[in-house]
Amino acid sequence: MLLDPNDLRDHIRTVADWPQPGVQFRDITPLLQDPAALRVLVQHFVLRYMHQKIDVVAGLDARGFIIGSIVAYELNVGFVPIRKKGKLPYTTIAEEYELEYGSATVELHADACKSGDRVLLIDDLIATGGTMMAGKKLLERLGATVVEGAAIVDLPELGGSKLLRDSGLKLFTLVDFA
Ligand code: PRP
Ligand code: HPA
Repeated sequence: MLLDPNDLRDHIRTVADWPQPGVQFRDITPLLQDPAALRVLVQHFVLRYMHQKIDVVAGLDARGFIIGSIVAYELNVGFVPIRKKGKLPYTTIAEEYELEYGSATVELHADACKSGDRVLLIDDLIATGGTMMAGKKLLERLGATVVEGAAIVDLPELGGSKLLRDSGLKLFTLVDFA
């Protein structure tokens, strides 16, 4: 089995001018479609977090749900979704944030985790960092400790990973695209 994260890069497709002109969209669906690549991806996260006493995995809407739920299953812990506004049925807390394109609000169920829980926060990609920062704030409002933010892809030139690290969040990402 290939364990070099750079092998994952070849499974990420770049779509020019989507969803709007000027954006180079890094599409992880080919990576999800390839069983060997998906297994390598999951292994990277599981090996990193299996001894970090994670209580809960939180995944960011929508692609963070895919990888986050597999990692939660493998770590034998629960999964909680951080969803775009208006999708969660029970009592929620909310954070508004700016995206690379547009703005949005994410929500978390008020009982998604307990004070003191050690949470792993997962998404597919970090661009401006707004989404992950909003997720971190929601989890911390419930008293959780965000052990690390994890993503498949970092777009360092957009400054999000620096912003997140400067805010005190530890990050783990596998593939950078300039
Ligand atoms: C994308 C991506 C991350 C976020 C990263 O999701 O999957 O969640 O943007 O951008 P940021 O670092 O600038 O916040 P998007 O908001 O497009 O939503 P989707 O998953 O519903 O397509
Ligand atoms: N891919 C996926 N999601 C994104 C991207 C991207 O390139 N940029 C901002 N969100």
